[in-house]
Amino acid sequence: MTEVASVLIGRDDVRRRVRELGRAIAEDYEGREPVLITVLKGGAVFLADLVREIDLPLETHFLAISRYGEAEESLGRVQILLDLDVDIAGRDVLLVEDIVDTGLTARYLLSVLASREPASLEVCALLDKSARRIAPLAPRYVGFDCPDRFVVGYGLDFRERYRNLPDILQVDDLDRLTADPDALAPLLARAGAV
Ligand code: IMP
Ligand code: MG
Repeated sequence: MTEVASVLIGRDDVRRRVRELGRAIAEDYEGREPVLITVLKGGAVFLADLVREIDLPLETHFLAISRYGEAEESLGRVQILLDLDVDIAGRDVLLVEDIVDTGLTARYLLSVLASREPASLEVCALLDKSARRIAPLAPRYVGFDCPDRFVVGYGLDFRERYRNLPDILQVDDLDRLTADPDALAPLLARAGAV
């Protein structure tokens, strides 16, 4: 029987790549004070590690959104549940995303942010699932290309579980995980022990 999930990107590779991204951002934004905005909850883990690799003055802010279900006709319909408490007009804004999948969420958020007239607006995505893109979107910074598989860990959830896995796992048997959402719980125990 196949495993429910397997490691796609191990924690050491994540750490190395986040460091590289942080250095690239620090170089590109030198002399400026960027505003990093992330979308709760998935992006929080990535943002927390990323900002510690950027040796510039910066601000971190959060947005919370809800999506209108998974149905095709509701794709890309997003509601802002928690808005920014900062005026981003004239600021250098970097939208930090855990994963860009269809791109519809990011496209919606970019249109909202752009309407507030920042000096610049870019996207940094840890994972880019470009095979599933519906809305054309090429993030300025990408951590890893992601295969067309459901992934969990390092902030990414399945039904709110597994955000705390240090590795990024690809789900190989989504039917089994759907039938038993706790199927990967044993990996959480091992995660701390490695
Ligand atoms: P998009 O609008 O399709 O690009 O959706 C992006 C959002 O969907 C991400 O911010 C995640 O919250 C969620 N998402 C997309 N793919 C995955 C995945 O493979 N695992 C976990 N969450 C995902
Ligand atoms: Mg989610």
